[in-house]
Parts: sequence; structure tokens; C-alpha cells
Amino acid sequence: PTPSSSSASTGSGPNALDSALTSIRTSLALPTTSLNLLVQRFVTLMDQGLAEKGADMAMIPAFVTGVPDGTETGTYLALDLGGTNLRVCEVKLKGDGTFDITQEKYKVSDALKQGPVSDLMEYIAQSVDVFLTDYGSSSDQDVLNMGFTFSFPVEQTAIAKGTLIKWTKGFNCPDAPGKDVVQLLQTALDRKHIKVKVNALVNDTVGALLAHSYHSGGAFIGAIYGTGTNGAYVANVEEVKKLHFGEKGSGADANRPKKMLINTEWGGFDDDAQSRPSGTGLTITPWDNYVDRTSIRPRHHAFEKMISGMYLGEVARAIMVSLIDRLLLFSGWSSPAMDTQYGFDTALISAIQGDKTEASDAKSATRKALVGTMGIKEEHVSDLDVETVRTVCDLVALRAARLSAVPIAATIQHTKQAQEVGSEGKIKVGVDGSVVEYLPGFQDRMKAALVEMLGEKIGEKVVFGLAKDGSGVGAALCALQAVKQEREGHV
Ligand code: GLC
Repeated sequence: PTPSSSSASTGSGPNALDSALTSIRTSLALPTTSLNLLVQRFVTLMDQGLAEKGADMAMIPAFVTGVPDGTETGTYLALDLGGTNLRVCEVKLKGDGTFDITQEKYKVSDALKQGPVSDLMEYIAQSVDVFLTDYGSSSDQDVLNMGFTFSFPVEQTAIAKGTLIKWTKGFNCPDAPGKDVVQLLQTALDRKHIKVKVNALVNDTVGALLAHSYHSGGAFIGAIYGTGTNGAYVANVEEVKKLHFGEKGSGADANRPKKMLINTEWGGFDDDAQSRPSGTGLTITPWDNYVDRTSIRPRHHAFEKMISGMYLGEVARAIMVSLIDRLLLFSGWSSPAMDTQYGFDTALISAIQGDKTEASDAKSATRKALVGTMGIKEEHVSDLDVETVRTVCDLVALRAARLSAVPIAATIQHTKQAQEVGSEGKIKVGVDGSVVEYLPGFQDRMKAALVEMLGEKIGEKVVFGLAKDGSGVGAALCALQAVKQEREGHV
């Protein structure tokens, strides 16, 4: 069962529907004042995460101390775990901001996602083996360097060392938290005698930032709006209070880098919102609470559950089911798919958002989604229902886009980046993920919200660029950076 809104009652007719939609609209609305409040809260939580370990928004040092400028060359392997599929890639950096990539995707079953972590690592190692057998490698190195994009919160202690804090996005191998994921993977590779050295552990946001830097000659933020959502940025090391490099002026301090990439784990922004008074941070609607409490990890990454591809469809479904139960949609009829958790895929929101046909058009993408994909009986879908579904999807997508702008605005404020880049400078943000790539209007809406929060002058400085393949190229760039940092004796 999904929740209805607090004033729930059944009823029919346009008035009941109108008032239900008005209440949904109000619950999901984010006027500028609310956005500004969220920015302030985000800045506070950034400080908290930079000062102490274990914060909900973890602010994890990535031990990457510089970004590429596009001149880098070399051939590296990359592994990408944490999106929809496992990917193995070989990336050849050409030194002119471009690259060649050979890649293969491998499916990760739910059993592997939730079973013993050794099984998962064994499967990954086996996939690397299959990839190298199928494609060979063009590298002349005996042992291939590999960047491992592992897109989960990891307490990193070096560029190739880090223990899993917790799982997100439907993964839940119970024995993994607390373990060093590089070591787990290296052991699995060594057991199969695969000549690969995992020399960099990379979050996908760090990958997106590095990839966009390589492409555009330098970037400031890398952000993922895909299965999950998260961002990384280039911080001044002195602001990262929890990092210690020894006393100023001491020998250890000589190794102190100036910059450090920080993986914010902003999916966990305001994770205690449920337990604080309303109006002081994120507003959790009854539908959000439903999505959260029925998720694999309730009360974790609540912000992500309002924004990312894994959950947006589910939020929309929760709202639609609440309307069905009040006899305000499809005359109160549903379907097995509509009644199934995650049965309404976020891709359907994209399709419906892109549908500009008349509500009566029998061949519209909205009807195709509802009747064809979701199995609602054709005779139960009125023109008004089509409009209602479009409205619900639009409101869910609009809230996601506006919320997505909050971390960007807050990071810019926190770092005073607008002043840093000067009057002519741009603030470059590399983005990747299915939501930002495929949800119509997402980027424009995010940009509009940014301008509301930062003002036109600063808002217009922010330039988004698609960092496609960030996880692959970014991991390769990180593997390269690891070699460089080792040579220079940095962290
Ligand atoms: C989740 C993960 C985070 C990742 C993001 C995007 O939020 O915790 O590490 O970057 O998804 O994939």
C-alpha cells in the first residue's frame, strides 16, 4: 500500500482532482526561498563533513591533487561498477583532449549485488579476464594499470586504498562495509593470475570531473545525475580540516598538496530531515517517505531518492497509486505493473516529458507508456488521465531538477569560486548520467534554479558540459594521475 496525501478521501469529478493536484503541486514545489534555505543547510553540512569523519554527507578526500589539462597520453584499463552495468574499458588518451575507448558491459545480477562480496569481486575479475581475452590490450606494459570506478561511499586513505562505508543504489553485500575494496578486487585478480594492477580507486563523480577537465582544459565540479546522484569538486586543502599532513613547516607538511578533489556524497544531504522540524531543510512528502521506507536502505541517501534515476519513477508511481486509490485516476483501476515496486521506470518519465501530442492522441507516447508498458486497460485511460499523469511526471521531474541545482550553488558559494575565476572566468561543471542526459528539460530547469539562487551574474558563469564516459575515461585519467603522484611523492 502507498500513502495518500494527509487530507486523503475518495471522490470523483474535476474539483476533487483539481484539489488533489493542487496539494501535490504544493508539496513538491520549491520556491526560491526554499532553495536558498537548502543552500544554507548544504553549506553548513559541507563544513561539518570537511571537519569530521562519519558525517551523513561524507565529504571524502579522493587523494587526487590535480586535474588534467588535455595533454595527457597513455593507455589504461578502467573498470566501472555502480551504474546500471559493470563496464570494462581500455582507454587510450591521445593528448589532445580526445581518446579512443574499447569497452564491454557485463550484467550484475541481484544475487551478486546482495550476496557475499567475494562472489561479486570474483565475477568482476572474471569479466576483466573475458574482456582481455576478447579484445587483447594495445598497451606495451607487462602489468596493466587499472583505475577502478567504484561509485559508492568509500573512506579513502590513499589514491588506491579505501574501505566501503555503506552501500547505496540497490547493492547490499552484507560483508563488504569496512573492507578495502581495492584489496578485495586485487586479490580476486591475482587469484586468476590476471596481470592487472588496480592503482586508483575512483568515485564516478571524480571520474566525471577528471574527464571533463581533460576534455575542456580544466573543470571545477563533476556531477552525476544517473542511477544515483553525487558530486565532486576541487577543494583548497586547508579547508579540509579532517585531513592532517603534520605541523606547518614540518617535514610531513612539505608533502601537503594545495588542492584536493572531494567526493561530497551529496546523496546523503540532510539525511536526518525526517527527524527535524519541517521548514528547516528537505521536505519529505508522504510519497518520499513511502519510497524511502520500502527501499533497501531506509533513511539513507534521502536526497538521492528525490533526484536520481533509480527512484524518480517510483516517486511518480507512489503519487499515481495514491490518486488511483482516491478514484481520481484511471477510474480507480490499476495494473500489476503499476502495483509493483519500481514498476514505473524513470525512462517512462522521460518519454512522457518528451510527449507533446494532444491528450486524445491514441498513439501518444504517454498512452503507449500507460497501456503498452504499464498494462492499464485502454478503456480506463481517459484524456483527463493522460493530462493528470503528465502533470504528475512533470512535477516530479521539476522538483528533481531544482533540487539538483542546490549542491552546485552551495559548492560555488562555499568555495567562493565566482570570485576565484574573476569577472570573465567560467565555472565548468562536467555532468553525466541518464537523468541529465535523457530527461527533457532537466538541464534548463537546473540552470534556471541556479540563476535564482546565485543571481544572474554568477549563475551565467556556470557552464555545464556532458562528461560522457566519465567513469571510463575518468578512471583512466586517475590511474595516470596515480602514477604521476607516486613519482612526485605526493599523498
Ligand atoms: C550514490 C553513491 C555515490 C555515487 C552516486 C552516483 O550516491 O553513493 O558514490 O557517486 O550514487 O553514481
